[in-house]
Amino acid sequence: MFSAIASYFQDRPLLKVSTIAAPVLLAHQWCQSSCLSLTCLGFSLYIFTGGWKTLWIAYMTIGRDARGLSFVIRGRRRIRQLRDKHAIIADVFLENVRKDPNRIAFYYEDRSYTFQEAEDMTNQVARFFNKLGYKKGDVVALYMESCPEFVMIWLGLSKLGVVTALLNHNLRAKSLAHCVNVSQCRAVIFSGDLVDAIVEIRDELDSEMAYFSYREPTAMDNIPQYQELTTAFNGCSKEPLRVEYDRQFTDRLIYIYTSGTTGLPKASVISNSRYFFATTGVASLLNIDSKDTVYCALPIYHSAGGMLGVGSCLIHGASLAIRKKFSASRFWDDCIKYNCTVIQYIGETCRYLLAQPEKPVDKRHKVRLAFGNGLRRNIWHEFKDRFQIEQIGEFYGSTEGNANLINIDNTPFSVGFNSALIPWVYPVQLVKVDKATGKPIRGSNGLCIMCKPGEPGELMGRIVQKDLSRHFDGYVNQEATNKKIVRDVMRKGDSFFATGDILVKNELGYTFFLDRTGDTYRWKGENVSTTEVESTILSVVGFRDVAVYGVEVGNLEGKAGMAAVSDPNNDLDMEHLNQSLKKSLPPYARPLFIRLLLAIDQTSTFKLAKTRLKAEGFDPSKVDSDKLFYFNSSVGHYQTLDGEIYKAIQSGSIRF
Ligand SMILES: *[C@@H]1O[C@H](CO)[C@@H](O)[C@H](O)[C@H]1NC(C)=O
Repeated sequence: MFSAIASYFQDRPLLKVSTIAAPVLLAHQWCQSSCLSLTCLGFSLYIFTGGWKTLWIAYMTIGRDARGLSFVIRGRRRIRQLRDKHAIIADVFLENVRKDPNRIAFYYEDRSYTFQEAEDMTNQVARFFNKLGYKKGDVVALYMESCPEFVMIWLGLSKLGVVTALLNHNLRAKSLAHCVNVSQCRAVIFSGDLVDAIVEIRDELDSEMAYFSYREPTAMDNIPQYQELTTAFNGCSKEPLRVEYDRQFTDRLIYIYTSGTTGLPKASVISNSRYFFATTGVASLLNIDSKDTVYCALPIYHSAGGMLGVGSCLIHGASLAIRKKFSASRFWDDCIKYNCTVIQYIGETCRYLLAQPEKPVDKRHKVRLAFGNGLRRNIWHEFKDRFQIEQIGEFYGSTEGNANLINIDNTPFSVGFNSALIPWVYPVQLVKVDKATGKPIRGSNGLCIMCKPGEPGELMGRIVQKDLSRHFDGYVNQEATNKKIVRDVMRKGDSFFATGDILVKNELGYTFFLDRTGDTYRWKGENVSTTEVESTILSVVGFRDVAVYGVEVGNLEGKAGMAAVSDPNNDLDMEHLNQSLKKSLPPYARPLFIRLLLAIDQTSTFKLAKTRLKAEGFDPSKVDSDKLFYFNSSVGHYQTLDGEIYKAIQSGSIRF
């Protein structure tokens, strides 16, 4: 009933009339019979000032809010303890090792690693790099496909206070070099099979850079001076190593790259405390602990897999089954093989799973909970029913931000809640923004305007630098950090982290995701920065106008990339563009649609021009005589997009 009413409310957020009318009628009848007109007056006043509604909201949300509140209180206490003990994530992990050393920490393919084995390897990593003089403040970049060693290497380095920059192993060329360089690392650790990509960018990296290969490189030409790590680690003792340095719970732990709002990927600073807080929120509120095995087929260089998935093992003692690359056909077999009780998803994975033919294994697993982000409304129930998953823990969170929400009570379609009665306990707010400019609308007092139920607004989280859970660590680049901060939101002098995402809440405080604004869009679970794609295209096409934006495609999650390029003389070489994009951008960032036009309207602001282009999308009937192309993935080229193809794409018979 809870969820039915909540979803009803989501579509009709302002149900004031009927909730008020019924008690008024009752009260009216009661007044006539008893003639207690004074009581009646008071009663009516109570009703009209929202009394009944408040009671009703309290009745509907008290259990949920109590759980949230209890987590906030317990979480803060634990964070204070860890801070006072100068603990880091590796210490929290060690507590789990001590509790049950023989429990499996990681499953990977046909291998498994106990907590003790994992701890042993982190000690070897720490000892090896300690001998080479790596210390607190140093940064090392890690470029490897998902596997348990990926985690053990960064966890081992963290014991020395060394920060690991987790690189996306799909990156190549310019984007890869950029990510390595912004991290200001002194070494790169790469897995042997990715050696070519490192060789390709070597000239663009610092000449002092040290190279370490985990397992022997597959190709032997032109390899930078490197040291192989597998044997080096094996030569080190497994005994814990206690290095003395100024250790703090707030020390930097890892860098995770995000598209942020503008430009090339940015390295977000993840401190030990932030890693702890982000992970523990999801795991505690969804009761993930050492009884569980979590299946993670998401990339572990991102925050979803790398913090929430990996963290459920490191911090909460769950076993973690890591899969190198998501496979829809093997998904449930893996869950059965490893006895998984929890799976992690992004919206796309759920859709790919539903697209598989039905099999008996679909329901033979023991998965009780699926948690993740981006499960769409149109497949929510289908996914839950077909695979018989009791609970969906949809959450909202950004790698760098402090505004996190989570659905803890299985409310359909919701990304979480904030208390409707005591919203100030969790200072995450929806703020009204101007649709065209994306800037907050301010009232006559200069402050932002908070959204009422049913009013869409940008999600923002208050920054309190003293409070570890409300902290915003920002990016490695300070200028990029400042761009995400909005000041004078609720009071003069306060500051909020602006997520760039538009959400709406209902009267019970449940929130629902609507749209992403700003200069990024999300495709295949990856954030794509429009400015990064624009600058890549500009470097190929030279003196032309380029605008990149995301467009909706049929029922698909996220937005597909589209580029508008000016081509006044009708001489753009599409094949050259295609080849260059393949070389410099990972597949998810390459535009699927290209529109050639005379010029991009520069009379208004670029932002407004983009808004119009976005609205016209890739519909041939809306673009006048402009030429449209789509990326035909079966042949690997851009081809003309006409009305027929448009229909086929929208209906899903042409897929991406
Ligand atoms: C899964 O559970 C079954 C039955 O309890 C057990 O025999 C098997 O060893 C377990 N598999 C793993 C990978 O833990």
